[in-house]
Amino acid sequence: MDENTWRFVKKRTAADGAVYVSADRTRFRRTGGAELQAEAEFQRRIADLDYPVPHILEEGFTDDGDYYVVEESLGDQTLHDRAVASLNGGRALADDVTDTAAQVAARLLRAQAAHLVQPMPGTLRQWLDSAGFTQNVFQENPDLDNTRTHAVLDHALDLLAAVPLVRGHLDYGLPNVLPAGVIDWQHHGLVPLGYDVLPALEIIAFKGGNKGYTASPGQRRRYLAVLDDVSLNTTGQPVSQNLGGYLLVKALFFLVLMRPDDPSHADKHLKWQYRRHLFTKGLEQYERTGTVDTALFPSLEEFAAGHSAGNHP
Ligand SMILES: Nc1ncnc2c1ncn2[C@@H]1O[C@H](COP(=O)(O)OP(=O)(O)O)[C@@H](O)[C@H]1O
Ligand SMILES: [Mg+2]
Repeated sequence: MDENTWRFVKKRTAADGAVYVSADRTRFRRTGGAELQAEAEFQRRIADLDYPVPHILEEGFTDDGDYYVVEESLGDQTLHDRAVASLNGGRALADDVTDTAAQVAARLLRAQAAHLVQPMPGTLRQWLDSAGFTQNVFQENPDLDNTRTHAVLDHALDLLAAVPLVRGHLDYGLPNVLPAGVIDWQHHGLVPLGYDVLPALEIIAFKGGNKGYTASPGQRRRYLAVLDDVSLNTTGQPVSQNLGGYLLVKALFFLVLMRPDDPSHADKHLKWQYRRHLFTKGLEQYERTGTVDTALFPSLEEFAAGHSAGNHP
């Protein structure tokens, strides 16, 4: 077998370039531009800090002037793949998947907590704006760009000011997690401790049931307990107390680029309205209780039924 034969895997989500796998499946190759070069530099840095990430084996310019990076494979199945494969006709995630997710998350959180980054003025605000894509979200949803939203976000940022900053992934979730570590550091940046790992099972709810699986309240509780254990041992604080603030930012993130250009696209319009509903619901919950409970989110189907019956907010 020619070890230099690369099979196309997919175009990169949210960036130019593509992902390829070697014929023997031991390595992955990504192509892209300057952002890929920055991603590789970041990944090398955190590998040196003992983050659970693929080692970079080779990088450089292709004959076409693109950048390419080759890294080791962390295995054949992401936890998303494993979750889907273990469904057995139902929708409940296998405990084995959520417990493995907790183990990988704990390793990442430990590495992050071991290498805190000194905050600069405005770092947390920058995180909010980049992780929540606030510019796009408020442009597409000007009615949400109001004093109430900003009061809640400001309050959440005030509370998070006490949380240490770390080098983060910003697109953490089962599709980028394997038992051996975390791939796809395209969106990397500084995040408050726990922002990556805490919401990983909660964000499934934002897909409205279309992801094929759901995590039970018990699985989510166990997952958070493992992470609290790590953070109590490293920083002396339970990270799960920040989950509400993090889910507000995720609710913004899930609204990015959702507004259809053409309002007659009924499907897209419905999904956009659904995400607006989840954002508003999350905001209300946070105002009332200081946290966000994704178990109270309707599925897209339930939302659609209420929507067509006319009893939407
Ligand atoms: N180092 C790796 N180890 C194992 N699988 C990988 C690795 N890199 C990429 N993959 C596989 O390729 C897919 C796409 O790579 P990824 O960088 O996540 O692309 P995207 O930016 O489109 O999400 C992943 O979901 C995973 O299945
Ligand atoms: Mg990915």
